[in-house]
Amino acid sequence: MIEKLKEEVIRQIACGEVIFRPASCVKELIENSLDAQSKKIVIEVKDGGKKLIKVSDDGIGMTREELFLAIERYSTSKLKAIEDLKRIKTYGFRGEALAAIAACSILRLESSVSDGEGYYIEVKDNKIVEEGTIVRKKGTTVYVKELFYNYPVRRNFLKSSYQELRLITEVVKNYLVSNYSVSFQLKSENKIIFNYPPANSIKERIEMLLTPEAFSSLTEIFFENPNLTLYGFISLPEKIFSPAEVQMIFFNFRPVKSTVVKKAIYDGYGGTLLGRTPNFILFIETPPEFLDVNIHPTKEEVKFIDEKFLYDFITQGIREKLKIEKDVEFSEISEIVTTFQEPLIEEEKKLFWQLHNKYIFAQIKSGFCIIDQHAASERILFENLMKNESQEKISQPLLFPILIELKPEVFLIIQELKEELENLGLDIQIFGENTVAIKSIPADTFFAKEDLKELLLEIYYNHREITKSTYEKRKEIYAKLIACKGAIKANQKLNEREMEKLVNQLFSCADPYFCPHGRPTIIKFEISEIDKKFGR
Ligand SMILES: Nc1ncnc2c1ncn2[C@@H]1O[C@H](COP(=O)(O)OP(=O)(O)OP(=O)(O)O)[C@@H](O)[C@H]1O
Ligand SMILES: [Mg+2]
Repeated sequence: MIEKLKEEVIRQIACGEVIFRPASCVKELIENSLDAQSKKIVIEVKDGGKKLIKVSDDGIGMTREELFLAIERYSTSKLKAIEDLKRIKTYGFRGEALAAIAACSILRLESSVSDGEGYYIEVKDNKIVEEGTIVRKKGTTVYVKELFYNYPVRRNFLKSSYQELRLITEVVKNYLVSNYSVSFQLKSENKIIFNYPPANSIKERIEMLLTPEAFSSLTEIFFENPNLTLYGFISLPEKIFSPAEVQMIFFNFRPVKSTVVKKAIYDGYGGTLLGRTPNFILFIETPPEFLDVNIHPTKEEVKFIDEKFLYDFITQGIREKLKIEKDVEFSEISEIVTTFQEPLIEEEKKLFWQLHNKYIFAQIKSGFCIIDQHAASERILFENLMKNESQEKISQPLLFPILIELKPEVFLIIQELKEELENLGLDIQIFGENTVAIKSIPADTFFAKEDLKELLLEIYYNHREITKSTYEKRKEIYAKLIACKGAIKANQKLNEREMEKLVNQLFSCADPYFCPHGRPTIIKFEISEIDKKFGR
């Protein structure tokens, strides 16, 4: 028998589709504040948002009547008729987010349409438990208290407060790039996690968000055809030195995940990526009627009417900007190194020279080879880290612990991941507010204080990928980062014994020809080629 679902059940289903965790509430509340034309948005959380999420804005506010309507299902001020759905310009249009939040938390709304008198309501178990007038500034403050208090299973499903806070941080970042003129502040347990004043352009906001290194890797891109415009910033292939800090895609300013667009971007770079990951922040604009924004419950995916057309447009746009002809670079490099399969060093005469404190020259049977000391050292460290060895073997204690002060958001992540890092020989202790003490480093690494600081930052930039990866994959990410920062540097003087050790270690690696990022470690020169050049 088919029965009509009870209103209560419908509400629960809807809530389950839109609100999964604190970060999904934050997303909905920020979108509402932005739709209300706010210029300043403050987000405060307690316990990673599990205890409290508070979002305050200075937008247009709501009257008493509007407050009551706002928490009803399907009530929205943003959509009048179905025709409008095709031309939607606001983030919200379904009128279900606040109703969904009200169904799974204690929700309090305070609002006013002008400085002075406002109104507040508090909703629990779908009933108004408190209401009244208040004095406040124009705008709205939403409190989401005890999320999932009435859904113990879902509450248990939430991650640690650190992890939930991290997810919230990610959500906020998406909106602060596209809404560059709005000021955003995020606080956790009364501590400021970040504070972004209004910027004058998207570029200026991005500069505030990224490290100088990542920012300087970017080039501006603009590309259009009659139905699509592509604008944004992408890494220049020759400037990708570390894993991507930011990869964002926006459709008509709505942050989205899009496998098609991501694939198109990567394919646009082609072989120039050599296994590395580029930064990109891309805004795709199209007339709203070409875009279905209603295919996903939380609107994080959208559908463009012709995906193949979109793919080609983006790939071509990136190729043209970067002047990339299909995949030449990669095949050339791999040809040099894969033909290089013979024993390397003649036993009796071991000869090494160091050139510009950067490259090692080694004589081999058929000629000579040049080894990039940093890339080689990276490869060796990476493979050592990936082996499962005992704790004593993998770690070297420091005589004096190194103290490093971190930004609060970085500190949070390191605190969360430090146990995993210990398994790789990196012993990190919490030393006070936002400061860590490094007690030991992985064996055979060369870390100065600055390198360690950079390593922790890199771990922070990669935390999203780390936390969604399997154990083995996480280990690989850590190993790559540690290898990169802890390897012999490009201006380090080496004596002959050190060079010999490095070369021997390199050739006992499983894959000696490439560093973990895919750059070559060795280039070989045939004596016959040289002979030919001299006309012999
Ligand atoms: N911060 C705010 N300032 C002013 N009005 C708000 C605010 N938050 C919500 N509202 C009002 O409450 C209504 C309901 O909000 P809700 O998020 O539930 O739905 P929506 O934004 O219209 O659609 P969606 O469910 O797609 O987000 C909005 O249409 C808006 O009129
Ligand atoms: Mg909304």
